Amino acid sequence: MCKIVKKEILVPNTIYLKVEAAEIARKAKPGQFVILRVDEVGERFPLSLAGWDEDRGTLEILFLIMGKSTMKLSALDEGDCIRDIVGPLGRPTEIESYGNILSVCSTFGIGPMVPMIKALKEKGNKVVTAMEARDKASLFWEDRLKSVSDETYVVLGDGSLGKHRRVREFITEYLESGNKVDRVFAFGRIFMMMDCCRATKPFDIKTIVGLTPIMVDGTGMCGCCRVSVGGETKFTCVDGPEFDGHLVDWELLIKRKRAYLREEAQAFNLWQPDNLRRIAELSELPERISVM
Ligand SMILES: Cc1cc2nc3c(=O)[nH]c(=O)nc-3n(C[C@H](O)[C@H](O)[C@H](O)COP(=O)(O)OP(=O)(O)OC[C@H]3O[C@@H](n4cnc5c(N)ncnc54)[C@H](O)[C@@H]3O)c2cc1C
Ligand code: FES
Repeated sequence: MCKIVKKEILVPNTIYLKVEAAEIARKAKPGQFVILRVDEVGERFPLSLAGWDEDRGTLEILFLIMGKSTMKLSALDEGDCIRDIVGPLGRPTEIESYGNILSVCSTFGIGPMVPMIKALKEKGNKVVTAMEARDKASLFWEDRLKSVSDETYVVLGDGSLGKHRRVREFITEYLESGNKVDRVFAFGRIFMMMDCCRATKPFDIKTIVGLTPIMVDGTGMCGCCRVSVGGETKFTCVDGPEFDGHLVDWELLIKRKRAYLREEAQAFNLWQPDNLRRIAELSELPERISVM
């Protein structure tokens, strides 16, 4: 059982949690993730580490509400417990002295980017960050990224800030203007990372992406998270989650991520009335009224 010690709604569909998990906090490294189960009947699902405090024994995670499991997690409050958390999992980010780094992130990719940038800075790299959000209302942690990066740029999809609507446009202009970049790290939506790789490929700049295929065990046993990188099959949970984005078979990744869309929607739809029924029992309301 891991107790939630802090909860924040960052933007309406994105939640931040700080949880007690001392063993994991002691070993965590940038780029790693955990797999959790909200309750004893919950599915296992992965979330990246957005921070940790070894002394206090706490972890930070942030997540986008997508379906049943993330909705269940979002319903927990400070003082509630998550059934179990396993980690840290995955290979840590290769933190070396590269020179000039461009870090690119969107949505839940903003979380893991913070410890990664801190570690890259400690190695003497210069880090310029570009963050993408749909609009101002979906923007969060701009201040955190600013506090750890040398420079920070924000790209809003509705065009309400500056001239770029996609982070790809920003990257192309940034590189065409002669800015030297030795390595790019991109975390967030798959389409954003794909776009990012398309922008850096003509400049031949190594671009590391954090892949998020469906995972079950997280230890290389089930094969669920397999991806194709440079024509080789890799298991994201033990060989990744970070890979060279120019070598990733994105089409296959997207296809595999969408494999259970119908079942995921069914699970969500079935869970909702079930949950309402339980709430009705607790509050002694007639079930008929609550599930309509
Ligand atoms: C290494 C890794 C790190 C991740 N880090 C974060 C993070 O920090 N914050 C965040 O919001 N999300 C993160 N994700 C994605 C997150 O795991 C899914 O959004 C979540 O599992 C959705 O579950 P659901 O039941 O709420 O939604 P569902 O409706 O079940 O699924 C919605 C979509 O999420 C994906 N998904 C579903 N189940 C899984 C699963 N077991 N494993 C992976 N993807 C799944 C599928 O593409 C699916 O179509 C990460 C994924 C991976 C692989
Ligand atoms: S999640 Fe099972 S092999 Fe990676």
